[in-house]
Amino acid sequence: MSEIKPVFKPNREFAKEARIKNICEYNELQEWAREDYEGFWDHYAKEKIDWIEPYHTVLDESDAPFVKWFDGGKLNVSVQCVDRHLKTRKNKAAIIFEGDDGDFRTITYLELHFNVNKMANLLKNEFGVKKGDRVVIYMPMIPEVAYAMLACARIGAIHSIVFGGFSSEALRDRIEDADARLVITADGAFRKEKPYMLKPVVDKALAGNTPVEKVLVVKRNFEEIEWVEGRDYSYNDMIDRQPVECEPEPMESEDPLFLLYTSGSTGKPKGVQHNQAGYILWAQMTMEWVFDVKENDTYWCTADVGWITGHTYIVYGPLAMGATTVMFEGVPTYPDAGRAWKMVEKYRISQFYTAPTAIRVLHSTGEHEPEKYDLSSLKVLGTVGEPIDPPAWEWYYEVVGNSKCAIVDTYWQTETGGHMISPLPGATPIKPGCATLPLPGIMARIVDVEGNEKEVGEEGYLCITRPWPSQIRNVWGDEARYRKSYFGDVKIDGKPVYFTGDGAVYDSDGYFTIIGRMDDVINVSGHRMGTAEVEAVINEDEDVAEVAVVGRPHSIKGESIFAYVVLLKPLDDNGPRDAAYVKKHINGIIKAEIGNIAMCDDIVFVPGLPKTRSGKIMRRILRSIAKGEAITQDTSTLEDPSVVQAIEKVVKGS
Ligand code: PRX
Repeated sequence: MSEIKPVFKPNREFAKEARIKNICEYNELQEWAREDYEGFWDHYAKEKIDWIEPYHTVLDESDAPFVKWFDGGKLNVSVQCVDRHLKTRKNKAAIIFEGDDGDFRTITYLELHFNVNKMANLLKNEFGVKKGDRVVIYMPMIPEVAYAMLACARIGAIHSIVFGGFSSEALRDRIEDADARLVITADGAFRKEKPYMLKPVVDKALAGNTPVEKVLVVKRNFEEIEWVEGRDYSYNDMIDRQPVECEPEPMESEDPLFLLYTSGSTGKPKGVQHNQAGYILWAQMTMEWVFDVKENDTYWCTADVGWITGHTYIVYGPLAMGATTVMFEGVPTYPDAGRAWKMVEKYRISQFYTAPTAIRVLHSTGEHEPEKYDLSSLKVLGTVGEPIDPPAWEWYYEVVGNSKCAIVDTYWQTETGGHMISPLPGATPIKPGCATLPLPGIMARIVDVEGNEKEVGEEGYLCITRPWPSQIRNVWGDEARYRKSYFGDVKIDGKPVYFTGDGAVYDSDGYFTIIGRMDDVINVSGHRMGTAEVEAVINEDEDVAEVAVVGRPHSIKGESIFAYVVLLKPLDDNGPRDAAYVKKHINGIIKAEIGNIAMCDDIVFVPGLPKTRSGKIMRRILRSIAKGEAITQDTSTLEDPSVVQAIEKVVKGS
């Protein structure tokens, strides 16, 4: 695994002005953190956060893995992101919104302040939302989603954003788990010049008994929607009468800020809980270090706000540091493969942050498109969510970045709140497909289960060995699951440490290369799907006896979902219940229960699944078959070894 890769040094001109200017400065910071961990964090917490009341303890690990950062302190995240910029940046663009149709709007920090305060007053005064209440947000990429997040933060409500691509069932599950009383949504929005709808999904999710009492609807596409009197309220009709000042709620450092549901290797998605001070501190610090955004820069992250990247790097991080953040409603390849580059030229974007899947799509659909636009404003290019393959990396570096921009391959997770391992654009020599080094303050190691350090080139468990400020604080309502999911697998010196679920290797420079998930999680286009979750849904099909799903490499999506299905009764080859029908039916159920993102690219009908005598499905064998690899695993211990050949035959013939 320790192959030699080309190394690209940071651009000298850029490095001169960067916050961290060379690798020695990086090493000094990391050394400081290693020697005086609390002193390091204390310094930055004091420097970066506008405290309402100072904290008395930097880090309290007495109840680990339940940790407290900056205990005793009080702050308000909306003040950190908005109010404190009014002195120096009130007329600076906070958000530039570009609609699907190319229309744009600029929201200054002063306007953002008014909009957030009005929304906070609306939630508080009209709906009685109080500190600690959960508010589910199911919205498209429009500025009102940022107002809603920051309004919740202002009054101390806990938001839980559900990605707009999730189905009504998935939305309902998340509403119920969080016991939310209010849903904020929109009628819909626009994609590829056509309106699409969200409100009907909310209506369906709320059919029957749910904890939700009120629904606030932002009208964006003005299509006709159903209206439930006494439950549904129009944001557009109510917002203008709200006062423009709303007193920020002083929040404890460890009060919850938001929940974000994500898939794990078992069971239903879990509500990852992030708290106030630690989260916002690291969101801001990583924005400053990793993207090195300067006062006059315009920064664009193409993620959807429904994922953690959208939370930390479209809304909280950029606004906490007082940057200009671009929010885009549309699709980067519509109306043509030059759309993204046209926007870079139009807004003079300095930092562009996207996922390898998007890079592969932009590359394959418009290899020479970047050459048609003036991309000279670009300084830093970022990637996130999945390993980036060398051809995509090279195109991004050479054609998009004109071989002068740093590529920051940022490794992190919903649970880590912000970047963990990433190059620093002015300091770290980069290598294609390599996340390079842990950020200053992050203590990452690659070890075996007993905590022994792995040698160069040997794959091991990627662990973070000290708590960090923006780490997950709990799985909402399930402390046991929090412990088990993250602190159950690896111990160092007898003490449980945070295991990311990812495998990684060191190279001879001590750089970290991420291999990918070691658990039963599939990464589709940078989005996490738990195999157990998809299997549970497929099992609902009345034709299905058993199912196992695995990830299969995919040239655009990174991985796609491959399902092995054992049917209860044979297919009706010449009748209505033929293979095509059953496959469509299975994907239909997945679409309804989870959403399009979990649909299977491949479904094969097999006579049985490879299981150990204790009944455990040998997914490694299924992964190898899906990839078309020869089976090297020992199959003699299987309950029925002959099933492997039978499955191979089906897959080869499919
Ligand atoms: O497997 C890793 C992969 O994405 C997972 C986290 O997914 P999620 O919580 O949805 O957050 C995605 C956005 C932060 C990780 O466990 N991953 C994330 N970044 C990278 C990555 N794999 C390789 N390289 C990365 N830069």
